[in-house]
Parts: sequence; C-alpha cells; structure tokens
Amino acid sequence: MKIIVTGGAGFLGSRLIAALLDGDRGVERIVSLDRIACPVEDPRVESRIGSIDDPGCVAGALDGDVGIVYHLAAVLSGQSEAEFDTGLHINVDATRLLLEACRKLPRPPRFVFTSSLAVFGGEMPDVVPETLAPMPQSSYGVGKAIGELLVCEYSRKRFVDGIVCRLPTIAVRPGRPNSAASSFVSGIIREPLNGEPSEMPVPPDTRMWISSPETVIANLVLAGGIDGAALGLNRVLDLPGITVTPAGMLDSLSRLAGQAARDLVTLTSDPKIIDIVCSWPGAFDVARPLGLGFTADSDFDAILRQYMASLA
Ligand SMILES: NC(=O)c1ccc[n+]([C@@H]2O[C@H](COP(=O)([O-])OP(=O)(O)OC[C@H]3O[C@@H](n4cnc5c(N)ncnc54)[C@H](O)[C@@H]3O)[C@@H](O)[C@H]2O)c1
Repeated sequence: MKIIVTGGAGFLGSRLIAALLDGDRGVERIVSLDRIACPVEDPRVESRIGSIDDPGCVAGALDGDVGIVYHLAAVLSGQSEAEFDTGLHINVDATRLLLEACRKLPRPPRFVFTSSLAVFGGEMPDVVPETLAPMPQSSYGVGKAIGELLVCEYSRKRFVDGIVCRLPTIAVRPGRPNSAASSFVSGIIREPLNGEPSEMPVPPDTRMWISSPETVIANLVLAGGIDGAALGLNRVLDLPGITVTPAGMLDSLSRLAGQAARDLVTLTSDPKIIDIVCSWPGAFDVARPLGLGFTADSDFDAILRQYMASLA
C-alpha cells in the first residue's frame, strides 16, 4: 500500500512516517510531499519537494494505488494570523486541490486531516462536548474549520474516506521556536533544559489541552486504519489530551529538572499570543475517541520524563 504524507518533512510528519514504517504494517511506499526534504532515510520513502498549491506537484504524487493520504502540510497559527492570504491559500485552497486529486483516484483513499482545537473559541463550557459548534478566533482556526467541512463533504460524497483529527497542542517539540502561537508551550520546557532563558507570554493559570508527540503519532497511525463505519456520520474527532497550565508545567520542570531550570522562565505578557491561545479550549469530552481506541498521556510529568529521556 502506498501512503502520501503532506508535510512529511515537518515535526509530526517525519515522526508519522517513521512510525508507519516501524513494525509489520505492509507499507510498500510512502511519499512525503513537502517544500523541504523528508529527513527519514528508508528505501520505501520517496521525498517529493514541492508545494501543495502546485497542481502538477500534487497530481504527480497522487497516482493510482494510494491507500491513505495524511494531510499535515499547513501554515501554522502565528504565520496564518500575520499573513492572512498565505494562510487561507495553503490551509483552504490547497486542501481543496488535494481533495480534488484524491477524487480522481480509482478508489477513495482514507484521508486523515490534522485539524486543531483552534477551530473553537468564544463562549465555551469548561469541558467542550463533541457537539459544540466551531467559532474560531484566529485565521488559522478559520482555515482549519473550512478544511474540516471540505473533508466531511468530500467524505459524504464518497470522494474520500475522511477523518478529521483535531490535535491538541503538541509538547514537547524539540528544536527551535516555530511560527505557531503556541510555540511557547514547548519553549518553556525545552529552552530551560538547554540552559537557555524562555518567556511565558500567557497567564500561568491558562488551561491548555496537550499531547505528547508519541501519543499523537500513535493516534494518527490509528486514524489511518480505523474502520470508517465505526465513525458513523461524524467524521470529526477531538483527539484525547490532558489539561495543563503553564504553572503546572513549570512545577513539573522544577520537580524533575530542578529549580534552576524553572527560574530560567519569566512571565512576559504578549497580547497577540494571549488573544489566540487563550481563545482555545482547555478540556474536551473524549469518550468517543477513547472508545475507538485513541489514547491520552497520563500526566505532564510523564510527558516531561519522555522528553528528558530523548535528550539523554
Ligand atoms: N504541532 C502542534 O502542536 C499541532 C497542533 C494542532 C494541529 N497541528 C497540525 O498538525 C500538522 C503538522 O504540524 P507540525 O507541528 O508538524 O508542523 P510543521 O511546521 O513542523 O510541519 C509542517 C510541514 O508542512 C510543510 N509545508 C508548509 N506549507 C507547505 C506547502 N505549501 N507545501 C508543502 N509543504 C508545506 C512545511 O515545510 C513543514 O515541513 C499541521 O497541519 C498543523 O496545523 C499541529
């Protein structure tokens, strides 16, 4: 079976490709479609460099025997807010282009779309139920909400067999800060562990819904293979996460890495980040995804231990 991963060179895309190749899943070929080269070295991986808004590039990647398309390539929240047209063009227009290419395939592929809790905003209950209507308060959230509707409609028409996975914020992300408004969620842990200072731009008691990279990748692998009939009419899943606050995360950091690491983080309020991140929900009712086999991390200490072990 051939699998396409857009954004296959990215943080989650490259980890997803590695996970799909691991074990005996019968994966014959994975095509990474990204503007940069996929770092996974394996003879089964073909790294196609190009943009998902280029019809020739998309058509070239999506030929006959495609079983699953994981659509991860996106303009992230900070950049989408700063560059309105770029965000909507890649997150909406290019998603439609990709769905159209899938529609031309001989059989509808499983189409896994990585959406985000950023589709929610405004007045919300403490725990968001599956039935809450999206009301995004950012250009990124709007682009993802439109993408979700497109995937659902192309699924209803049986052009694809789609699943929308609304991802929690993923932490701890290695490397450097990125263009996501939530970049600090990883930064307040990663930078102090590197002995570097870091700024926390939101109030310490801000509730955030997060998942570790390992858990979200296991959930995306599951989404690729799950029986579509089990989802019924509702193709949209709020992926499981845990509720944390920056204060709670820093308590974990102090406990597991020492007070000196904790002291490298300073509170520096940033209204632009607050407007976006504080509009997001902090908890979800995830009974249905848990019943389908999706999983959550146990607590933030476990996530932090996992990340610290990866540095060793
Ligand atoms: N990481 C998170 O916390 C998080 C949370 C919620 C949702 N998501 C979603 O998960 C997906 C993956 O996120 P990530 O954290 O791995 O991001 P990332 O930025 O690390 O990876 C995205 C990849 O997409 C590629 N890309 C961007 N525009 C492209 C284009 N026009 N054509 C081809 N490739 C393009 C980038 O080069 C990059 O490699 C995204 O859809 C994101 O919106 C991520």
